[in-house]
Amino acid sequence: MCERTMHHKTVLKEENARKRILCPLDPKHTVYEDQLAKHLKKCNSREKPKPDFFIQDINAGLKDETEITEQMVPISSLSEEQLEILIMKLKKASEGLNSTLKDQILSHPALHDALNDPKNGDSATKHLKQQASILGNIEKLKLLGPRRCFVEFGAGKGKLSHWVDIALKDAEKVHFILVEKVTTRFKVDGKHRRKNSVFERLQIDIQHLCLNKIPVLSREKLPVVGIGKHLCGVATDLALRCLVETCGASCEERNEEPLAKRIKNDKADKEINTLAKEGSEKNVPEPLPPTLRVCLGFLL
Ligand SMILES: C[S@@+](CC[C@H](N)C(=O)[O-])C[C@H]1O[C@@H](n2cnc3c(N)ncnc32)[C@H](O)[C@@H]1O
Ligand SMILES: [Zn+2]
Repeated sequence: MCERTMHHKTVLKEENARKRILCPLDPKHTVYEDQLAKHLKKCNSREKPKPDFFIQDINAGLKDETEITEQMVPISSLSEEQLEILIMKLKKASEGLNSTLKDQILSHPALHDALNDPKNGDSATKHLKQQASILGNIEKLKLLGPRRCFVEFGAGKGKLSHWVDIALKDAEKVHFILVEKVTTRFKVDGKHRRKNSVFERLQIDIQHLCLNKIPVLSREKLPVVGIGKHLCGVATDLALRCLVETCGASCEERNEEPLAKRIKNDKADKEINTLAKEGSEKNVPEPLPPTLRVCLGFLL
């Protein structure tokens, strides 16, 4: 046997003697037991360092609100009588709130061609109509303008931002932050090449997202417009908290008052600003001051 074959055989023998074990970080792959320590340092499933804008549970709400899960039961398990009591309680709790939501289905010219394209099937057309309505509503609120940052919550493929970008094709300095917790295929945000807009995708659960720690927002203090479509379940609450928390935090430098008071004052601020804007004759909105402006184009 030549020296090379001998060496090869020895290597094979050693390889056979080594044991492969499941990776403790992800049992979908295996690793040589004697190389585990080395593997753990580079395994793709290892916990990556968290970005600054990740703050564990920052939008999760009050602790006692989240700790009542044991008492939670599905609505379908309630008896008719229990349901009636629940409805009564909800009615009582919402008494005095101006909670009548008016349906306001609008449209936007940016989607005109797509909406009239016969190649689009029923499902695509349904989504296009929803996106057009959200754009129409954002425009009506005078929030569709330049020099601001649109944060799309639960962005999926990022189509809502895509249409906002099309609608703002001549506007300067428009930034998009697409928040999505899962890796997404067939994203449309990679395809944008417009000079005046920037797309950034953050793979994070909204529950842990602190907006004012996102570099572009803390650096440029851009006004924020929150948008979203079909943001499922609790994620709508998370997004609302995310926006409110950011506002609270971004006012901190200039305002030492307690959060509750700050939010109240800021709300008054916003109302004044909205009124001023509604009085404006111009179609193109004025640049907003660097505090938060919220439009949740939430279509549930
Ligand atoms: C019903 S899909 C809607 C996707 C897209 N907005 C649309 O209209 O086609 C909801 C999306 O929100 C994302 N999502 C749900 N909860 C989330 C959370 N807590 N943080 C980030 N993304 C979330 C889901 O992963 C999913 O992509
Ligand atoms: Zn591994």
